[in-house]
Amino acid sequence: MDNNIVIPKHIGIIMDGNGRWAKKRLLPRNMGHKKGAEVFQDITRYCNELGLESVTFYAFSTENWKRPAEEVNGIMSLLKEYLIKAFDYEKENNRVVFLGDKSAFSGELLELMLDIEEKTKDRTGMTLNIALNYGARNEIVHATKNIAQMVKNGEIDIDDINEELFSNNLYTKGQPDPDFILRPSGEKRISNFLLWQIAYSEFVYMDVLWPDFTRKDLDEAIMEFNRRNRRFGGV
Ligand code: IPE
Ligand code: IPE
Ligand code: MG
Repeated sequence: MDNNIVIPKHIGIIMDGNGRWAKKRLLPRNMGHKKGAEVFQDITRYCNELGLESVTFYAFSTENWKRPAEEVNGIMSLLKEYLIKAFDYEKENNRVVFLGDKSAFSGELLELMLDIEEKTKDRTGMTLNIALNYGARNEIVHATKNIAQMVKNGEIDIDDINEELFSNNLYTKGQPDPDFILRPSGEKRISNFLLWQIAYSEFVYMDVLWPDFTRKDLDEAIMEFNRRNRRFGGV
């Protein structure tokens, strides 16, 4: 990419359109998720090559449990497979963080998630956030409970509650807010993704379905980000 292009520090990606991709090809939905998982791997590598500080992928929402058991089970086994593979290329120095309520997971998948987080926690490269059983409303309630507990324990005063303390009780604690949110698949909504953190994020909606998403699409999105004039409420 052009040297004058500003690479966002933190991109959030809503990986959407797997089902429609499969339907178009008369394939089962889980084939769309499989292709989507391959694209996730490639785009992660590319974000690393571009030198991003953080990237957050929305992989499974708190609402996605409503889907048929067959699809949910398919997604869970794909996750396991791809996390194992993903961890292989984590030699690249990425730190991996799972955003979301882990209490829904158990057994091998939970062990794998905890193991990956533990093994990568001191790494200094890009932070790869994977939002799994993630919902922004759930995250905000979770942060509120933590803070209420601290007040109850007498660790902090009500007046100590401010935006910084609140941010530090979210799953994304210590990370920069996303500069940029990208949603492929043509849908133009946020679907409970990072509500607190996107206060000043730029949005790009793209017509490509996630399994068809390429490095070139990310380049184009970053180019569009460069055309935006961010003001943060100033002039
Ligand atoms: C995104 O693709 C993957 C998950 C939400 C798990 P979808 O499965 O939502 O694909 P569409 O939106 O039905 O095409
Ligand atoms: C958002 O996509 C969640 C993920 C991509 C993981 P959905 O497909 O679940 O969102 P809606 O239902 O179209 O809003
Ligand atoms: Mg969808």
